[in-house]
Amino acid sequence: MARSLYGLLALATFSAVAASIHQQPLSRVKEKPNIVFILTDDQDIELGSLDYMPLVHKDLINEGTLFNRHYCTTAICCPARVTLWTGKNAHNTNVTDIFPPYEGHNENYLPVWLQSGGYSTFYTGKLFNTHTTDNYNAPYPAGWTASDFLLDPFTYQYLNATTQRNRDPPVSWEGHYTTDVIAEKAYGFIDDAVALDDSFFLTVATVAPHSNVAAFEIDLDDPLNSPLDSILGVVTPPIPAERHKHLFPEVKIPRTKNFNPDKPSGASWVKALPQLNSTVIEYNDGFYRARLQALQAVDELVDGVVSKLKEHNILDNTYIIYTTDNGYHISQHRLHPGKECGFEEDIHIPLIIRGPGIASGHTSNVVSAHADLSPTVLHLAGLDPRPDFDGSAIPVTASDLLAAKESGERGEHVNVEFWGLGLPEGKYGFSLDDGKVVGFGENNTYKALRIINPAHGHNLYYSVRCTNEHELYNLTSDPGQLHNLYPHPYPHQSSLSYSSERHPHHRYQHHLKRILRLDALLLITKSCAGITCRAPWSVLHPQGNVNSLANALAEDYDSFYADVAETASVRFDKCLLGYIKEAEGPQSVGFDFDQWLIASQRGEL
Ligand SMILES: *[C@@H]1O[C@H](CO)[C@@H](O)[C@H](O)[C@H]1NC(C)=O
Ligand SMILES: *[C@@H]1O[C@H](CO)[C@@H](O)[C@H](O)[C@H]1NC(C)=O
Ligand SMILES: *[C@@H]1O[C@H](CO)[C@@H](O)[C@H](O)[C@H]1NC(C)=O
Ligand SMILES: *[C@@H]1O[C@H](CO)[C@@H](O)[C@H](O)[C@H]1NC(C)=O
Ligand SMILES: *[C@@H]1O[C@H](CO)[C@@H](O)[C@H](O)[C@H]1NC(C)=O
Repeated sequence: MARSLYGLLALATFSAVAASIHQQPLSRVKEKPNIVFILTDDQDIELGSLDYMPLVHKDLINEGTLFNRHYCTTAICCPARVTLWTGKNAHNTNVTDIFPPYEGHNENYLPVWLQSGGYSTFYTGKLFNTHTTDNYNAPYPAGWTASDFLLDPFTYQYLNATTQRNRDPPVSWEGHYTTDVIAEKAYGFIDDAVALDDSFFLTVATVAPHSNVAAFEIDLDDPLNSPLDSILGVVTPPIPAERHKHLFPEVKIPRTKNFNPDKPSGASWVKALPQLNSTVIEYNDGFYRARLQALQAVDELVDGVVSKLKEHNILDNTYIIYTTDNGYHISQHRLHPGKECGFEEDIHIPLIIRGPGIASGHTSNVVSAHADLSPTVLHLAGLDPRPDFDGSAIPVTASDLLAAKESGERGEHVNVEFWGLGLPEGKYGFSLDDGKVVGFGENNTYKALRIINPAHGHNLYYSVRCTNEHELYNLTSDPGQLHNLYPHPYPHQSSLSYSSERHPHHRYQHHLKRILRLDALLLITKSCAGITCRAPWSVLHPQGNVNSLANALAEDYDSFYADVAETASVRFDKCLLGYIKEAEGPQSVGFDFDQWLIASQRGEL
């Protein structure tokens, strides 16, 4: 398959994109490409972090493709990372939080598959939370030819990291700058990989620009009942390298419309947040600058990796993928620094890929998500996708794009889901009141959909919270997600199917048709697996003639969707911190359009 991929690339002469494709020297055509995966932690795209990374621009964006519509599906580290390395959404891995158990994944994830496909595999940096100096060997993470992991409780300590290499005991790097430590290890692994003479996969996972977190106590047997103050009390802005501390003295968080708005926005606990005062805003601006400063060492690391690949004369046969686990907000919607929300700041994230066959200086508008990245890596490695993947390979080359266009396979939707709390970071994010932690988002469990299809004028975010509050935003007219279009007060979903006399509100009528479709689609995506995640409309329309919201909006389907809403809608029985199916309402629609049509023709409805 690798050969045919290259064969296609050699023939790729169509479209303007092809003009800028890197030419492959013939001697390299036989070799499988190397893949370097650079993974940062909590890096936004919406707040402009990439604008402050000149070397990422020089080495990756100008030489590769920026995937401008890439999303994480669960906006917190471990669920996002497990999705990255397994190609499955969190509701299919049941890794829904930053605490173990992570069982059942160690033998069945990307490095294991790459090794069996002939790759040597390397990893340096942060793998997961609660991968600690005590449990690092019980068991060792499988699938790595060589590894050198950051370990808790030192993972987020920029100046006091502890790492653990292969089967060796942990080593402290007290006083050294974490990103520089990881960079040296990455360069070393490239030397080692070249010496082995196999094609290689290397992940370099930095902690930047995550907050600095001093050592904290946590009871791994009962993590959710560990005292939150012991964790939150030690979360401070990221620490830049000494050489970057002076940078960007005037820079502030972009003052977008959703920046600390005068009116509350969002729903549930977000809507109850008080406006931030000037002391907090000043602190948050400093927090934002610290993030940009901390990213400078990552910027240098990227350039160092590129230089190293050049030095070994393998840059042209290496894909470099740059992304992060989840995004970040600071002061938008009055939120303290943090993630875990479904807002664009938290879920829309950087993805850049450069390498053989990938257009340079190009921006791709293909909609993609983290569940697509394991499939994409296997595709780049010339290996077959796994049938149980919830995602599919992102079209990265001109020939992939053409194939995707012809098959009509790539969707317009991203499944978004979350279980648990919305934890504020930084010194004003929470306070202790009578020994109890206050100020964090309770009831932050939700299911959501992000739909982007500009050709049909769709740019929507639809969400149902565990409190059964609904949100619908039109990001074309309202990029800051300040105007919830869902009718208020929230009607029970089944009443959506009733006629206009019950809900005469104009806005409601305008959005009714869309809401019925979006809710039905979310019913599918929130419980989907494999093919039903990749092609969720086909569950509702098995004939395959509907694969977008625009298709589904056809008048012919009005009564079908009204009947779906009467039978089943997305709802929760209560707010829980994890994935307990019984609390999450209907798991399926129960009938499809074809069955419905037959039943209605027989007069059974
Ligand atoms: C590093 O961590 C150790 C163990 O918690 C602690 O004793 C030491 O003071 C820390 N050093 C720095 C520079 O934070
Ligand atoms: C601003 O808000 C923070 C956090 O709520 C509070 O601790 C501080 O006292 C407030 N400052 C002023 C000047 O009101
Ligand atoms: C979203 O807003 C745009 C721009 O105002 C408008 O053209 C479009 O019809 C709106 N879409 C929906 C679904 O309301
Ligand atoms: C969280 O949701 C539960 C219902 O599941 C409700 O009883 C509780 O009041 C909610 N808490 C907040 C802070 O909204
Ligand atoms: C997810 O894991 C939790 C805790 O281990 C368990 O209670 C729950 O039933 C699991 N959910 C599903 C859907 O398997």
